[in-house]
Amino acid sequence: MQRQTKKKRRPLVFASVACLLIIVAVGLLVFSQNNFSTLGQTTADAKGNQPNIETEEIPSSIEQVKVFKETYKTSTTTYEIEYPETTDESFNETIQHFINTEKEQFLALAKDNEDVSKDDTNKFTINVTPFEYKQRFYSFTFKANTALAAKKSTEHVATFIFDNESAQLVSFEDILNNNLRYLETFNQFAFDQLSADTSLQDSLLNEKSLKKAVTYDWEHYPEVAIEDNYLIVYFQPGEVTAESQGVVTIKGDMNYLHSILAEPFQSELTEGAKTLPLVVDNRKRVALTFDDGPHKSVTEEILNILDEFDAKATFFMLGKNVQAYPEIAKEVHNRGHVIGNHTWTHPVLTKLPISEVQKEYTQTEEMIFNTIGEHTTIFRPPYGATNDDIKALIPTRSVNWSLDTLDWKHRNAQTLLSIVKSSIHNNAVILMHDIHQPTADGLRAVLQYLQSEGYEFTTVDEVLSYADFHM
Ligand code: NI
Repeated sequence: MQRQTKKKRRPLVFASVACLLIIVAVGLLVFSQNNFSTLGQTTADAKGNQPNIETEEIPSSIEQVKVFKETYKTSTTTYEIEYPETTDESFNETIQHFINTEKEQFLALAKDNEDVSKDDTNKFTINVTPFEYKQRFYSFTFKANTALAAKKSTEHVATFIFDNESAQLVSFEDILNNNLRYLETFNQFAFDQLSADTSLQDSLLNEKSLKKAVTYDWEHYPEVAIEDNYLIVYFQPGEVTAESQGVVTIKGDMNYLHSILAEPFQSELTEGAKTLPLVVDNRKRVALTFDDGPHKSVTEEILNILDEFDAKATFFMLGKNVQAYPEIAKEVHNRGHVIGNHTWTHPVLTKLPISEVQKEYTQTEEMIFNTIGEHTTIFRPPYGATNDDIKALIPTRSVNWSLDTLDWKHRNAQTLLSIVKSSIHNNAVILMHDIHQPTADGLRAVLQYLQSEGYEFTTVDEVLSYADFHM
C-alpha cells in the first residue's frame, strides 16, 4: 500500500514564493563560514550604530549534527539564536528558512520598540536541542523567547523531525501511520495526560474546551519531538491552558505508545509491557466496491439501488469500458461515487513488462480524466496482482479488498447475500462487479442486511484509515 501524498510539516506550508526568494538571496550572500547571512539585519539602531553579529559553533548533543549560535547586538536589541546543521542540504534550507522567518519577525517587532532605556532592551533567544532516535530520526526542538523592552516576554516552540534514512521531514501523520483510530487514541491520551497534570489545575481550559483543543486532525496538530525514548508533545501558550502558563508539554514513553505508532517508530517491546489501549471504535463501516465496469445496463441499476440507501460506493473502472460507455461513467461520478483506475484491458500486471503496466494505467487515467474531468485517487490492480515495482509506478494508493463476494463465479443473487453474511467484518472492503446482472439483483438484500446490522456505507479511504487488517 502506498501513500497518495506526503503531507509536509506545518512550517513548510508557509514557504511562499517570497520566502523562497529570501532563501535564494540569503544563499547568494554567504560571506562567512556559516550559512546564515546577515541580510536585512544590518540596519543601524536608533543611535546610528551598526549591529555586532557573531557566529560560533557550540557543543552538540549528537555527533552527526553541528550546532551554531548567532548573536546580534545593538544598543537596543539583542538576539541569540541556535540552529543545527546536518549533512542534508535541503533539510538545512528548511531550518534556515524557519530561523530567518523568526529572526525577521523579531527584528520587525524590535524596530517598532526602539525607544528603550539602557537596562531594558529587546531580547530574543532560540535554543535548540537535537535528539537522535533509533539511529535514524533526528528531532529538533526550538524554544523561542521574545522579550520586548517594557513588555512581558512570550515563548513558543517549533519542532522538526528528520528521517536520516529517507532524507525527508517526518509529519505527525507519518508517526501515527495515517490511521484515524490511532489519531483518536492520541487525542484521548493528550486529554487524559493534561487533565491528570496537577501543576496545570488552575490554568487548564475547561473540559469541553480542552476536548475541542486536543481533537486534532491531519491538518492541525501539536508540535512533537522524539526525545530519548519519549514522544514529547508541545502545546503553545494558550492552546490548552491560560496563556500565562506558557508552553505546556506532555510526554509518552515510545514503548507505551507502541500501539499507535507506525512501524519505523516502534521500539522493541519487552514482554508483558503495558501499551496504550486503542479507543473503542463505535462505528461500523463498510466500503462497497464495484469492478470492471461501467456496463451498459447493470451499472445504472446498481446506482439506483445505492441511491435508495443513500450509499456511496467506489467503482474501479476499465479504461476500455469508460471509452465504450462515457455517459455511464459520468453518471457514476455525478451521483457522488468515487471512480478508481482498474487498468485498460484487465491484464495480470505482474506478468507484463513495466512499460506495458505504465500504458495500462496512463491510458485509463487519461480516458477517465477526459470523461469526468477529474483524476482518480485510487487504483486496484486486476486480480489483486501487484508487486513493489508496480506500486512504485502507480502514483495513487493501491487497494485490494478484504471480502470477496465471488459474484463473478457464482452469479447468484442469493449466494451473494449468504457470502456477505458469513464473511462480514467491520471496515470491510467488499468486492463486487457491476457487469453481472445477478449482482444487481442481489444488491438490495445485501444493503438491507448491512444496514440492519448497523453498517454505514462509506469510502474506501475512510475504511482504510480505521482498518487494522492488511489487504
Ligand atoms: Ni477486476
